Amino acid sequence: MKALIIFGSPRKNGDTANLVKTFLDNFDGEVDFVYAFKNADNGGISPCINCIACKKSDCIIKDDFSKILKDDYDILLIASPIYMSNLPGPMLNVISRFNYFFHSGKKLARQKTGVLILAGGGHGAKRIQGNSNEDLAIRQASFIFAKTNSTLNEENIVLSLNTDKLPAKDDFVAQEKVKQIAQKLNNSYGI
Ligand SMILES: Cc1cc2nc3c(=O)[nH]c(=O)nc-3n(C[C@H](O)[C@H](O)[C@H](O)COP(=O)(O)O)c2cc1C
Repeated sequence: MKALIIFGSPRKNGDTANLVKTFLDNFDGEVDFVYAFKNADNGGISPCINCIACKKSDCIIKDDFSKILKDDYDILLIASPIYMSNLPGPMLNVISRFNYFFHSGKKLARQKTGVLILAGGGHGAKRIQGNSNEDLAIRQASFIFAKTNSTLNEENIVLSLNTDKLPAKDDFVAQEKVKQIAQKLNNSYGI
């Protein structure tokens, strides 16, 4: 059982990281990370530049997006903060890279379980053209799940909102839900 984590926060010890830590503490399988943001340890994910090389060959951008394409994982965990009601810009870089599938005609065959963790500083009920704050980010993440052949069920969505007042590390409900998801994955994948 392997989980690939697409990590969308620039903060190594922030709210998203804290919830991911709880997942790691309770998950028994192998884990690998794709960091959307560039930091001291990795180059992040670059956006698609529409060179269309992928019509004939592999993507020419050499970064960890290749881990997503490798298709050797059973669980795709997207963990991210909400920025201006959207996923942060580098997560949209990740989304742009699925242009590879459009031009190459390739698909990921392996069936995966999707898990989504979102952290937001606000209350999450702000209306943006009829949709709540977190809806937009969920829809953006859902695009990634769809493109990677990952099924996201309602019970595998964890929202830790209001982190300005209640940091995710103290959000008992969200922490408990992450723990339960990890334990359920251990059971369902037979570890
Ligand atoms: C540029 C920026 C935009 C933000 N926009 C929102 C927002 O629209 N809604 C919200 O609930 N929180 C927003 N926040 C707050 C973060 O989502 C919140 O602090 C979150 O817990 C950060 O998670 P992290 O520590 O994992 O990076 C924003 C933060 C930043 C830096």
